Amino acid sequence: MKKIVITRNINPDIVDKLRKDFEVSVWEEDQKPMPREKFLEETKDAHAVLSMLSDKVDEEFLSNAPELKVVANLAVGFDNIDLDAARRHEVVITNTPDVLTETTAELAFTLMLVSARKVLAANKELMEGGWSGWSPYHMAGTDVFGKTVGIFGMGSIGAAFARRLAGFRSNILYHNRSESGAADDLGAKLVSFDELLSESDFVLCAAPLTEETKHKFDAEAFGKMKDTAHFINIGRGAHVVEDDLAEAVRTGVIAGAALDVFENEPIGADHQFVGLDNMTLLPHIGSASVATRNNMMNLCVNNIMEVLNGGRPITPVG
Ligand code: GLV
Ligand code: GLV
Repeated sequence: MKKIVITRNINPDIVDKLRKDFEVSVWEEDQKPMPREKFLEETKDAHAVLSMLSDKVDEEFLSNAPELKVVANLAVGFDNIDLDAARRHEVVITNTPDVLTETTAELAFTLMLVSARKVLAANKELMEGGWSGWSPYHMAGTDVFGKTVGIFGMGSIGAAFARRLAGFRSNILYHNRSESGAADDLGAKLVSFDELLSESDFVLCAAPLTEETKHKFDAEAFGKMKDTAHFINIGRGAHVVEDDLAEAVRTGVIAGAALDVFENEPIGADHQFVGLDNMTLLPHIGSASVATRNNMMNLCVNNIMEVLNGGRPITPVG
């Protein structure tokens, strides 16, 4: 029987689809990732792995698993995977595009509104008993309506975010390596990275993490943004030089930042961002609606079944 390793405790009803025809090994400790040693040990004789974005799929792992045919990553991003090494080992890699697009765009939109209107600071003040009464500029934020919004990475998530801006009469700019078909009906304008930074009131990072986009948002980039602008990141933490962002928010180079992703996750209360005013921080929940997570799991399972049964992967990458 072919063996499938699942590195997190995912929906058991979805896993059941596999149990009829395959030996399935699931890492059951819910909040903790499978430790690296356990991962290498468990996958030695595996034919398929359903991986999380926290698992490193690299040369060491791949050369340790000679039977491996497919790795299905429970994420749209796949920067945790060495695609060249996977190619060398003839292992198919799949991700979960499309099924999470709208859910992730909604979270990005939430971050923008929350940051603009100081929602978390206002909520915290009230919950801590610090609300002393109404006053004209109390917790007064900035409008999103009618502003210029710049999208770095106009892929499907960037485009879904841009569609949501229609009701806000936004001026939409985007920066991509090339003109995006997704942007066609959105009235979005392709601009240089510098122009995106200097013109936008809200800058959203929705790009995949690559060598080209890594640490793209550094002190120089934040320095080009308006001091009234907000930076939103739902891509990957490593798009940002975190020391530079902390400094930019602390010194008022930009007005605020709202982040769902960090360079080394998870972060704790000792992280330099925690406690900074005008920082909205979420624990990487971009695609975390129950329905979407189930759809992502199903897509991973279907990709694995296709490949192990000799068919074609549904959503291959690389
Ligand atoms: C989450 O960050 C993903 O890439 O799906
Ligand atoms: C990738 O994250 C995208 O924009 O679809």
